[in-house]
Amino acid sequence: MTLATSPVVEQKRSTTPLKFSWLETIQGDLEKLTQKIRSASFLEDQLLDAAVQMIIEGGGKRMRPAVTFLVGRATNASFENILSVAASVELLHTATLVHDDLVDNANERRGVPTLHQQIPLGITVLTGDFLFAQAAALAAEADNVRVVKVFADTLVSIVQGEILQAKTRWQVPSMDIYERRIYGKTAALFEAAALSGSILGDVEEDVIQASAAFGREIGLAFQIVDDALDFVSSTEKLGKPAGNDLRQGIITLPALKYMEAQEITPKEFIETIKQPELLEHVINEIRETGAARLAFDDARLYIQRAEKILYTAFQTPTPAVEHLVNLAYSAIDRDF
Ligand code: IPE
Ligand code: IPE
Ligand code: MG
Ligand code: MG
Repeated sequence: MTLATSPVVEQKRSTTPLKFSWLETIQGDLEKLTQKIRSASFLEDQLLDAAVQMIIEGGGKRMRPAVTFLVGRATNASFENILSVAASVELLHTATLVHDDLVDNANERRGVPTLHQQIPLGITVLTGDFLFAQAAALAAEADNVRVVKVFADTLVSIVQGEILQAKTRWQVPSMDIYERRIYGKTAALFEAAALSGSILGDVEEDVIQASAAFGREIGLAFQIVDDALDFVSSTEKLGKPAGNDLRQGIITLPALKYMEAQEITPKEFIETIKQPELLEHVINEIRETGAARLAFDDARLYIQRAEKILYTAFQTPTPAVEHLVNLAYSAIDRDF
């Protein structure tokens, strides 16, 4: 798996010299991670196990565990503990995807049919629960109560984010609501990935807090880019249905940018997208008028903030810190 650089965003790349390749550095760690989550994901039911393994083997960018691995290196944490927490983070993410796809009515994930397309809805929910439980067990393996608490708090935030999104379907959210949604859905887990890595490390509280803030900023940017890619990328590239957000009545930053640029009121916008033939036209317009691009620009600001936070916290940047900055930029310079 490699992280591609979107040709469209290439010109806007940061001037930050990307001297190191984070992916190469932690390739071995990521292989150990896949083995670990694979072995923690057996329900002892042939059909279910095959379906779950398909999602796990289907890949995924492994961005969140990559954050944990690199923060672990930057803070001199024990690898065994970091591996458990990284596996926990990725499994928690996978569990949320199983439930999210059901809620979002999505038919494809990581290039394969979603679980609820293959098995009854009730069993899909229970399989997601099983993955959550296994993720909790992995978090506990690091034998650190604070990490377990981070895990529990994060799950609360994710559920709050998803519920807030469900409650604001077919509504134009304020920027405040949008930020709360993307924090809960996505940034909380990136924050936890970085925070737990540094809790397990050998650093002072101010560095732990800075790591958390770094993860949070990356997470916000990551979800904004996900929302933009929903408009500008394709189902084939994403391995999940493109254009699905607006079809599900979920109004994200590119749509907000579009309304602002075209001076469309929330009421007009909602009335328009509720008409199926006009909805497809609006999706096209958001892509064609550059509104999705404007969202990419906003995401870059979050990453620049993340970079500053990291360099302030780690006064003498080690290769691991440089890799983290590199990783932060690849959270936005992507097309899937
Ligand atoms: C998808 O996350 C869900 C979001 C929070 C946007 P990723 O884009 O990291 O999904 P995978 O793990 O690479 O499949
Ligand atoms: C996913 O957000 C957030 C969680 C899984 C909690 P999205 O709904 O935007 O993710 P995709 O686009 O389906 O991957
Ligand atoms: Mg979804
Ligand atoms: Mg999405």
